[in-house]
Parts: sequence; C-alpha cells; structure tokens
Amino acid sequence: MQSSLSNGGCKMVAPSLLSANFGNLASDIAMLNESCADWLHVDVMDGVFVPNISFGQPIVRCIKQHARKPLDVHLMIVDPARYVADFAEAGADVLTVHYEACTHLDRVVHSIKDHGMKAGVALNPHTPVALLEDIVQECDMVLLMSVNPGFGGQKFIENTYSKIEALRNMCARKNEQCLIEVDGGVNTANAQRLYDAGANVLVAGNAVFKSDNPMLTIEHLKQ
Ligand code: DX5
Ligand code: ZN
Repeated sequence: MQSSLSNGGCKMVAPSLLSANFGNLASDIAMLNESCADWLHVDVMDGVFVPNISFGQPIVRCIKQHARKPLDVHLMIVDPARYVADFAEAGADVLTVHYEACTHLDRVVHSIKDHGMKAGVALNPHTPVALLEDIVQECDMVLLMSVNPGFGGQKFIENTYSKIEALRNMCARKNEQCLIEVDGGVNTANAQRLYDAGANVLVAGNAVFKSDNPMLTIEHLKQ
C-alpha cells in the first residue's frame, strides 16, 4: 500500500465502481483484483452535494471484504468531517473530500491522517487550483474533477489539462509527494495526454466497465 502511494512520475489507474454491476459487485471486484488496476475508486454521493445518491459505508465495508487493492474513496457529500471515522472503519485507504464541502479543510485533512488514511482534496471543475496554495503541503493527493461530479459517463472538460499543469507546478514548489488524480471522462484516447500533463492517477468508470474487455482497457489506460 505505501509503495503504491509514492509519486515520482507514477502512472496509476483506479477504475470507478460507480459503473460496475451493482447486482454482482463481487464479480467485478474479482476482475479488478486480477487486473493491473492499482486502486478501486469508490464514489460516495449524498444527493445534496451532488444531485445523485450512490451508496454509503455498509457497501464500502462489503467492497473491502472482496478487494485485494487499496480503496480510494471519493466523498461527494456535505460536511464530510462527520464521517471520517466511519469510512476509516469501513476500510478506506485513501479518503478524498471536496474543497467546496469543507469550511475547516485543514482540520478535516488532519483528521483523515489521524485515522490512518491518506488524505485527498478534490476540486470541482470551476474551482481554481490556486485555492490549494495553503493546504497542498498537507495533502497526499489532489483530485481534479474533469466533469461536474455526480454521474458516470460524462464528457471530459478540456480545461482540465491546464489545471493539471498548474497543480503540477504548485506541487513541485510545495509538495513533490502529492499525487494528482483526474476523475471524469477519462478514456484510452485522453489518458496519455493526462499523464503527460502531470496526472498520476486516472479514474475511469464507463471507459472500463462499458468496454468489451475491461482488463485490457485497464492495461491500455496504464500505457
Ligand atoms: C463522478 C465520479 C466519477 C465517475 C467517473 O462524479 O466522481 O468517479 O465514476 O465516471 P466516468 O469515468 O464514466 O466519467
Ligand atoms: Zn470519483
């Protein structure tokens, strides 16, 4: 787990279970266990911070029982500080909260680490990278949303490339270990350009689970 979190130009893929078959999650997780995916991306939505509702801690706990790779839990919920302990107990390895959902972000980031998890901060497409100037040194990861959060299968927002570059420059100055994750509309056609811009972790839902050969697609996303 620790080794897969060090940066250094690493390229990782985190398939998003939001696009998996909820009727048979165990089978999709078994496929991911056998694949070259690095993490399992787990999207928690509350119907308030985002317009959609996905699932909560009980499902994350079940996913953990089957997964043999780290769980990368993305909280799209209001007031995530209330649930840090719950998601630690459910088995999250990386816990990402939204900048837009936290009044006391520094406190939340430290709470995530105090609970033994890696701390991620996510930015919506309209939120400038510059707002991370005074928190990036505390982050293990920054997640850049490349669609408006809430749903899988949306179109990639092109402005994300310049945000990745701005974030990469900020990380070079302030925190070289910080991973850059990109989430939304990622596919085999844009993966290389995203890595080239400075992304370390690519989240992919539809591109993996709606493809004819998910394991091969994951391999292509890593190359
Ligand atoms: C969207 C979620 C994403 C989603 C990505 O709000 O955060 O993780 O599953 O799905 P695709 O890759 O289909 O855009
Ligand atoms: Zn996500």
